[in-house]
Amino acid sequence: MLPNNPIDPMMGNYELVTLRGGVRSIRSLIHGETMHVGTDPCTEALELHVGQQKIVKRVLEHQVTHPASPFVIWDIGLGPAANAISAMMALRDALQTRRENGDVETSQRVEIHSFEISTEILEFALSHADALGYLSGWESTVLALLSHGSVEVDPSIRWRLHRGDFSRESHGAPSPNAIFHDPYSPARNPEMWSLETFASEWMAVVDREDGKSGPCMLTNYTRSTAVRVTMLLAGWFVGKGVPTGEKSETTIAANSVELLDAPLGREWLSRVRSSTNASPIRGRNYERGPIGPEDYAKLCKLPQFA
Ligand SMILES: C[S@@+](CC[C@H](N)C(=O)[O-])C[C@H]1O[C@@H](n2cnc3c(N)ncnc32)[C@H](O)[C@@H]1O
Repeated sequence: MLPNNPIDPMMGNYELVTLRGGVRSIRSLIHGETMHVGTDPCTEALELHVGQQKIVKRVLEHQVTHPASPFVIWDIGLGPAANAISAMMALRDALQTRRENGDVETSQRVEIHSFEISTEILEFALSHADALGYLSGWESTVLALLSHGSVEVDPSIRWRLHRGDFSRESHGAPSPNAIFHDPYSPARNPEMWSLETFASEWMAVVDREDGKSGPCMLTNYTRSTAVRVTMLLAGWFVGKGVPTGEKSETTIAANSVELLDAPLGREWLSRVRSSTNASPIRGRNYERGPIGPEDYAKLCKLPQFA
């Protein structure tokens, strides 16, 4: 049984919009935000998350270095699934070639764990799959995910759905190798950009039962100083991310500074000190303000700036 009728075109919280270049995307009327502005859904997914994190290369390497454990992707804020589907499309061909060459066992898997508080947007997207383009051919897979919470996309790829508020629920998903962090903006969705939420992602990476924390990267679309300060204080190493769409810069974080091409340096700290919006985001309220002396002192002592 589906939670809601997945193809009810009368749902009123979202609308289809036409982006520059004629590509279609979705606008949330509740949050007043359009997804993937300045590009199309899959281009942003490929540039910001899949390409920047070198997902295909890292999965192929992981299968050699960690043959017994799956490569785990956390897709936080599944939404209309452009990030998850773009990643799976990029991986499917590469993994199939490997299987055909006999280079890998089919039991060596990629697991995509998608987190979503409400699947209404995905159900809306499904009812407009032709207009959106990237969902064409994925309808039955998405329906199976919505119905069963888990679907085998390919002999090497398992897609799981965790329903609920990511910032509150304990979900039991395995430790991630890659995180696509893609909620609405900090102003509209502060609990997903808070110190507590980034710290829980950090703990999932570093506090593994087997004590072996492999490389993990986290990408998101903002370049906000307050968000970067929050991620750093939560434990992450943070760097400048690639441009995408109308954004000249985004943010990438990792569990080791060596994984970053452009880590934030000490010169960035002077920008933090003079910014009117550099206070870390705490709890569920978004309060803009300059960083306090205690937080600034903690920031300066982090290994990234030593
Ligand atoms: C910008 S959309 C995601 C776009 C999507 N990643 C894609 O690739 O198409 C943000 C999504 O985050 C979800 N979200 C917001 N707050 C959340 C929370 N606390 N827990 C889980 N999901 C949340 C929203 O419901 C929405 O679907």
